Amino acid sequence: MHDFRYVGDQLFCEGVSIASLVRKHGTPLYVYSQHTLTDHFQKLDKALSPLNHLICFSMKSNSNLSVLRALAKLGSGFDIVSEGELYRAMTAGADPGKCVFAGVGKTEREIEFALKQGVYSFNAESEPELARINRLAARLKKIAPIAVRVNPNVDAHTHAKITTGTYENKFGIALEKVEGVYARASKLKNLRLRGVQMHIGSQLTAVKPFELAVLKVLPLVKRLKEKYAMDFFSIGGGLGIVYQPALQSGSAGWWKSSEARHILTPQKYADRLVPLLQPLGLRVLLEPGRFISGNAGILATRIEYVKRTGKKNFLIVDAAMNDLIRPAFYEAYHEIVPLVRKGGRLISSDVVGPVCESGDYFCKYRPLSKVGEGDYLALLSAGAYGFVMASNYNTRPLAAEVLVNGRQSAVVRERQPVNEIWTGEKVAAWLK
Ligand code: LLP
Repeated sequence: MHDFRYVGDQLFCEGVSIASLVRKHGTPLYVYSQHTLTDHFQKLDKALSPLNHLICFSMKSNSNLSVLRALAKLGSGFDIVSEGELYRAMTAGADPGKCVFAGVGKTEREIEFALKQGVYSFNAESEPELARINRLAARLKKIAPIAVRVNPNVDAHTHAKITTGTYENKFGIALEKVEGVYARASKLKNLRLRGVQMHIGSQLTAVKPFELAVLKVLPLVKRLKEKYAMDFFSIGGGLGIVYQPALQSGSAGWWKSSEARHILTPQKYADRLVPLLQPLGLRVLLEPGRFISGNAGILATRIEYVKRTGKKNFLIVDAAMNDLIRPAFYEAYHEIVPLVRKGGRLISSDVVGPVCESGDYFCKYRPLSKVGEGDYLALLSAGAYGFVMASNYNTRPLAAEVLVNGRQSAVVRERQPVNEIWTGEKVAAWLK
């Protein structure tokens, strides 16, 4: 599962104690396990081995250069959504020929950049986008590889903010309209219709919605394959992970009820999907983000104050919603454990950050062991959509990131110097 565990009373990442890392590098501190990343990638890769396939790691979930480099070395491709992500992936040594470019709002500049680098495919989300890619490809005398993102209108039963596969949201083109879109796109001379893509949502903890979506889209993919000699079908990402240990009670996580029952293993996923996809004879692409990076990272934080007000016990920590926004934004559950395990009774606690918003909390009414000022906590499962969603709100510098590999550790991003936050800002001339 992952490589964060207690050795004696100390929380370790692989062979390194996290307490030793926070002493050296301070907090808030993201810590990633290379072994966990590798293990998750390889488990999925192996489960899909009966298929001609390519895993394109969804780098929006974690785009640290070392994380990308580790995955590129395993043969991973990348699901990218901006010029910045493509540039970043290439800086980490990724092959642009293994990158798929997604997103509803690709700008001209981004499309040109991706055309020049030679991405594997543009996953197009609208007809105006297809027209734009065609026009820019003609200008650069290139043929743009294209897949249209199909919206299968399948409910992924996940949080509303991360559901993408229904007609209620901005993504993809409705299933019934897709054939017409391909027919019109086939007349655009600088496009090559290379594949079909879909993605129904994120943090899915059951295989059923994936299966329903594949079954729904397959007949269309077969017809398109016959007509346009395509070579791939991307079934997107979305494989969920376990955030909440089955036995832990506490504040309501939004997938709480289903989480404990459905642990979506790569084998379960492959057992149901491989038989459907194999007869197709197309290369299958996958775009997992969270499944690979989610449980490969934690956020370590120091307790600054313990504040008791009436019946409540607040643990005020030095990490905040600007470092990890998921609890504030999605009411997401992250398990919280002390770096040094203690016995004794549990105390119902709210772990909160210093940001001036009441939404700046990591948990509410969570039974946690008694800890005090100067102790440290770890927010688990913070490797996906953690650091990448961080901001400088409240002029708080971005946290440092450390990668662990066995007994080695390396700072893979320095803590941001505070005055770097306002470099680029200027005082207007008339105020001087
Ligand atoms: N492919 C496409 C087209 C996507 O939009 C996404 C995620 C993925 C792949 C990867 O999904 P994953 O395997 O990681 O579930 N910030 C949210 C999640 C947003 C997901 C956006 N799209 C969170 O913290 O839960």
